Amino acid sequence: MTTATSGRTTVTGAVGTAHTRVEGRDKVTGAARYAGEIPFAGLAHGWLVVSTVARGRILSVETAPVLDMPGVLTVLHHGNAPRLEIDYIGSLGVPPDPTAAVFQNDRVPHAGWPVALVVAETPEQAREAAEALVVTYEREPHDIALTADHPDAYPVDGHMPGVTQKGDLEAELAASAHVVDVEYTTPEEHHGMMEPHAATARWDGGRLEVVDSNQGTSWVADELARMFSLDACVVRVRSEHVGGGFGSKGIRAHQVSAVMAATALRRPVRVVLTRRQMFSLTGYRSPTTQRVRLGADPDGRLRALDHRSLSRTSTVWEFVEPSAGVARVMYDADAHRTANEVVRLDVPSPSWMRGPGEAPGSFALEAALDELAERCGVDPIELRLRNEPGLGPVSGLPFAGRNLAACFREGARRFGWADRDPRPGMRREGRWLLGTGTAAASFPAGALPSTAAVTAEADGTFTVRIAAADIGTGARTALTLVAADALRVTPDRVRVRIGDSDFGPAGIAGGSMGTRSWAWAVTAAAGELRHRLLPGGVVPPEGITVRSDTTAAIGALARKERHSFGAQFAEVAVDVTTGEVRVRRMLGIFAAGRIVNPLTARGQLVGGMIWGISMALHEEAVRDGASGGLYGPDLAGYHVATHADVPAVEADWVDDPDPDDPVGIKGIGEVGIVGAAAAVANAVWHATGVRHRSLPIRPDRVL
Ligand code: MOS
Repeated sequence: MTTATSGRTTVTGAVGTAHTRVEGRDKVTGAARYAGEIPFAGLAHGWLVVSTVARGRILSVETAPVLDMPGVLTVLHHGNAPRLEIDYIGSLGVPPDPTAAVFQNDRVPHAGWPVALVVAETPEQAREAAEALVVTYEREPHDIALTADHPDAYPVDGHMPGVTQKGDLEAELAASAHVVDVEYTTPEEHHGMMEPHAATARWDGGRLEVVDSNQGTSWVADELARMFSLDACVVRVRSEHVGGGFGSKGIRAHQVSAVMAATALRRPVRVVLTRRQMFSLTGYRSPTTQRVRLGADPDGRLRALDHRSLSRTSTVWEFVEPSAGVARVMYDADAHRTANEVVRLDVPSPSWMRGPGEAPGSFALEAALDELAERCGVDPIELRLRNEPGLGPVSGLPFAGRNLAACFREGARRFGWADRDPRPGMRREGRWLLGTGTAAASFPAGALPSTAAVTAEADGTFTVRIAAADIGTGARTALTLVAADALRVTPDRVRVRIGDSDFGPAGIAGGSMGTRSWAWAVTAAAGELRHRLLPGGVVPPEGITVRSDTTAAIGALARKERHSFGAQFAEVAVDVTTGEVRVRRMLGIFAAGRIVNPLTARGQLVGGMIWGISMALHEEAVRDGASGGLYGPDLAGYHVATHADVPAVEADWVDDPDPDDPVGIKGIGEVGIVGAAAAVANAVWHATGVRHRSLPIRPDRVL
């Protein structure tokens, strides 16, 4: 083992140049297999049955008729399933969501709760039997409505502080020349990744192997080992290709129920979630109701900033959409308060969804800033520049690079901001009113401890092994470039193997930390290996392998406030007769660390911005008060931006290497969505003169 050390490695070569995906050909030819399509001999298929009531108790599961149906092998439910261990804090610092630890009791805490797994020889037989399974319930009244004044709301006190406060808010607001006091709401939103959750579990030679689609194989393996009280070395989780994750692909009901069934039947069992089941079993973004109060001097300098966000969680798991957190980083004020509150309702557990906290939080905060700019008569960019903090407003720590101003300057130049008439409703083209808007973006730039192994092969090539996850972002390719530079070889001599918990513990593809965390470990191992290889020396047939562990090294990051930043710009056209909003163009300029692969980085940032368009104009999951379930929980009922909604979207970046990272990386996974919805909403105001404070900005709301 070597210990990774921080300190910039000077490399020239692959990092920073555009590379197509190393697995691109496999993906477009179908050679790349996803979790639900990998063949296994003797494979059985499980189909989940979910509750039809929003709250209550299971009275009976009528298994007998179903067990007589063709091909049915077993029905698992709370009456016969093994007991699981769920009283632990996992590797991400949170306890498991009981939604994943299936069939442990007769309680039903929300509509769509897993109540049984029907296993059969074929997926069709399993589905038919699952649909025929009669489950009876004792119903109880349910409450699913999030209201700003819900009496059961409470400030969270978890691994992040619920409330931060300094100064006298009321006094500073009273002394302010301009005050904005507004409420914003965002709806329930869902990930909707293309590839559904899918897992195959089997016992093989005394080991449990799970082939899955997830954001971290060592994470999921660790959770399964804990739940089933197995030694960590007994569990192997593989996840080679992943068709989107966005925070949703962690430990879920499909892996756990597949393991239960594979254990009971002693044969491989696959469980694939349906699109509808994903809407209640795999997390989602809670709706939020946010109040922002800003007080400023005549020149726009903030005296008071108060951001309160209320989100919703289930009765079985506390997940908080920490939307007020973004105000802790973006702007300082003499009096400054942020509060993340939550209320437990009879709804499915929400969880991380791309830009958790920052995405809805930036909508409220950056729209409120725009309202303040209007009040003060100060240009929205100038207002933000006047309020750039020298230190972290809450942490008091210096920033490890805060190139937000550079993003705004470059963005304004390229977008043509200087020509903008600040008055709303001034540009008209036929039936379209035109407007432009801007907003700031930020997302934390952290790292998770990771291990990597790099092997010099006898044939002159190199193999990297790390339990990284490529959830469609291009992580595998990025790590190929990073390894090539650290080894001082060309990328074609490097093969990167990922998605296997047997490669050792590694951080997840989440929190915008994946590529940085893994690149750090790969750089450390590859750098050490390069020094071990003697010029002209002979590599033995088994190769020479060096391992790294970054646990100690990444601790240095905590000494500074560390974020990626960005400036979002949008131009919209609003149809005054139909209320339709069309985004005409968007530009995002980011300061997000050293960019490893400009090709995939641009795609990821543009993807985030498109998601912001979708958030601003389309996405909204609507719950039915009577049933507690969703209307249209599928991709027909849940609208996302499509090609026709996406105009010219451009993303670019300014130079912003992280001085404390061996490659200079910060993270680009989520910053692209942050602020994008606010930029669109601010542009709609500029077009029409009307503020829209509830997303999405649907035509009926515009009229
Ligand atoms: Mo991200 S929401 O941490 O996958």
